Amino acid sequence: MDKASKVVGKVVLIIFLSCLFQWPFFYMLVKLSIFSCNAISTLTSPSLATKPETSADNKTEASFSQQADFLIPRETTSDPLKPKQQALHAHGYANYPFVQFSAYRDSERTFFLIGITSVVARDFDQPVQECEWQSLKNGSQQLAPTVAAKAELIYVTYDQFPRLYVIAMVNCTFEEEVGIGNEGGLLFITVSVGPQRGGTERKLALEEKKGAASDLMRKRNSPPSLRIAFCGPPIHGNIRADWVLHWLVYHHYLWNGSAHFFFYNVGGLDDSHRRVLDPFLKGGYLTIIDALDEKLFPSWYYNQLLFINDCLHMTRYLSSWTFFYDLDEFLFVPPPRTLDQLLDEHKEKTFITFGSIPSVTSLCADPPVKASHWLVQQFLWMQKLPHCINDEDPWVCLRGPGARKYAVNPRKMIAAAVHGTSWPSEGGIDLNATIARTYHYHGVLSAEATLCQKKVNVSLPIDQLEKQFPEVQQYNTDPSISEAVDEAKDFSALLLKLL
Ligand SMILES: *[C@@H]1O[C@H](CO)[C@@H](O)[C@H](O)[C@H]1NC(C)=O
Ligand SMILES: *[C@@H]1O[C@H](CO)[C@@H](O)[C@H](O)[C@H]1NC(C)=O
Ligand SMILES: *[C@@H]1O[C@H](CO)[C@@H](O)[C@H](O)[C@H]1NC(C)=O
Ligand SMILES: *[C@@H]1O[C@H](CO)[C@@H](O)[C@H](O)[C@H]1NC(C)=O
Ligand SMILES: *[C@@H]1O[C@H](CO)[C@@H](O)[C@H](O)[C@H]1NC(C)=O
Ligand SMILES: *[C@@H]1O[C@H](CO)[C@@H](O)[C@H](O)[C@H]1NC(C)=O
Repeated sequence: MDKASKVVGKVVLIIFLSCLFQWPFFYMLVKLSIFSCNAISTLTSPSLATKPETSADNKTEASFSQQADFLIPRETTSDPLKPKQQALHAHGYANYPFVQFSAYRDSERTFFLIGITSVVARDFDQPVQECEWQSLKNGSQQLAPTVAAKAELIYVTYDQFPRLYVIAMVNCTFEEEVGIGNEGGLLFITVSVGPQRGGTERKLALEEKKGAASDLMRKRNSPPSLRIAFCGPPIHGNIRADWVLHWLVYHHYLWNGSAHFFFYNVGGLDDSHRRVLDPFLKGGYLTIIDALDEKLFPSWYYNQLLFINDCLHMTRYLSSWTFFYDLDEFLFVPPPRTLDQLLDEHKEKTFITFGSIPSVTSLCADPPVKASHWLVQQFLWMQKLPHCINDEDPWVCLRGPGARKYAVNPRKMIAAAVHGTSWPSEGGIDLNATIARTYHYHGVLSAEATLCQKKVNVSLPIDQLEKQFPEVQQYNTDPSISEAVDEAKDFSALLLKLL
C-alpha cells in the first residue's frame, strides 16, 4: 500500500511539474493522455501556465503569415454584445455557371454562344436561362424594347471527360426575327447564380455592329468563300516550331493552297514560334487565336472541345469543309484518288472520317534520303494496321477506339467532338483507312519527346538492312509522306522563299 501510494505520488508530481514547465517528453505524454494540463494550470498561477502556450501559438502564427498573405479567419471583436464576424476565404478555382468564349449569329432568329459550364451547374442547374435582344435603334438602346427567348443548352455528349468544366453552348432562338433591320443590337443572357438559389444575373453576351446581320445573311445565302478550314487543337507546352511549319507546308500543298488554318494558342506559341510561322501568317493562311486565360477554367485537354466548337461555329458559313485533327497527324489519300475528289464525292454528307495509322517515331532513316530532309521525312516506318482498340475490322474502326479524325460540312453540324461528331452524329461516311488516313506521329510536337532512338542506315541494300535492323520487318516501309513533303516544299517554295 505504502509503495503504491509513493509511486502514484511521484507520477502525479511528474504530471504536475511537466505541465507547469512543459518538459518536452512528459508534457507530450500528459497532453496525449486523458489528463488536462488546463486543470492543473487553473490550480497554479494562470500567467505561468498559459504564457508558454501563447508564445508557441505566436510562433506558428508568425511563420504561417509568412507563408501566406492571409490570416485564418477569426472573430473581429471580443465584445459579447456584438455579433461575431467571420468571413469565407476562397482557395483554388471558382465554379462559374457559364464562362463564355464567343457568340455567333446563325440566322435571322438564332444565335449560338460557345462556352463552358461547371459540372455542378450542368448537373444541377440551368446555367443560362434566358436570352434577350435589344435593337440599337439609330444607335440608341433606350428606345428599343427587348424581346426574350428561353435559352436552350447544348452539351457535347461525345468525347466528354468531365473536369471542373465541360463545354456548354447556348441556343438563343427568338420567335421573331431580331436585328435584321441592320441597326445593330445587344444580346443579353440571364445566368443562374447557383443551383436552387433562384438568383440570376443579366449579362451582355454580344454586341452586334450595324450591318453585321446582313453580312451574315449574305454569307448564309451564298456558297462558302473558303474551300477548307482547319481547326487545330489547343497548343500548349514546349513545342517544336519547325515541326509545325513543316506540317503547314504539307497541308497547304495537300489542299492546293485553298485552306485557312486556325490555331488555338494556350501558351505553346510565343513570339519565337510566330516568327517561324510568319510566312503563313503574312500570307493570310493562318490565324492564331490566343486563349491564354483558359488555365483558370480547367476542362479536359486544355478546353479542346470548347475550341473545336468555337471553330466549328466560326467557320459555319465560311468554309465548305472544316477539318479537325492534331498537328502530329498528316492526312493522306493514296493515289490515284485525291482528297479533292473524295470531298466532292461526299459533298452531301454531314461528315467524313479517316482511319489513323501510327507512325514509328523511334526509327529514323539515317542518312536521310536527301540531305535537306525534314524530321517528318525521316519517319519511314508505319504500323501495318490502323490504330484500333476493338476487335472489329481495324480499317473501319470507328471513333475513339479507331483514333479517327474527321472533316465536317459545317453548315450541317451543331456540335463536334475530338474523334467524331456529336450533333448530328449521323449522315456521314466512315472511310476505310486504305482510302483516307492520318499518319499519327504521336507526341512529336513536344520538344521534350525522345525520337529517333535508332538510326536505320537506308543506304544499305535491303537484305543487309533487314539483317542489321530486324525490327523494321514488323512495320510497313511507307515513304508516302516523305515523298509528298518533297512536292509540298516545291509547292510552298515561293511562300517560304526556299528556292
Ligand atoms: C506575440 O503576440 C503578442 C500579442 O499579440 C505580440 O505583442 C508579440 O509581438 C507577438 N510576438 C511575436 C514573436 O510575434
Ligand atoms: C438618329 O440620331 C441622330 C442623332 O443622334 C438624329 O440627328 C437623327 O435625326 C436620328 N435619325 C432618326 C431616323 O431618328
Ligand atoms: C434552337 O432552338 C430552337 C427553338 O427551340 C429550335 O427550334 C432549334 O431546333 C434549336 N436548334 C438547335 C441547333 O439546337
Ligand atoms: C490548284 O490550284 C490552282 C490555282 O488555284 C489551280 O489552277 C489548279 O487547278 C488546282 N489544282 C487542283 C488539282 O485542283
Ligand atoms: C477495308 O480495306 C481493306 C483493305 O482493302 C479490306 O481488307 C477490308 O475488308 C475493308 N473493310 C471494309 C469494311 O470495307
Ligand atoms: C550506311 O551504309 C552505307 C552502304 O553500305 C555505308 O557506306 C555507310 O558507311 C553506312 N553508314 C553508317 C553511318 O553506318
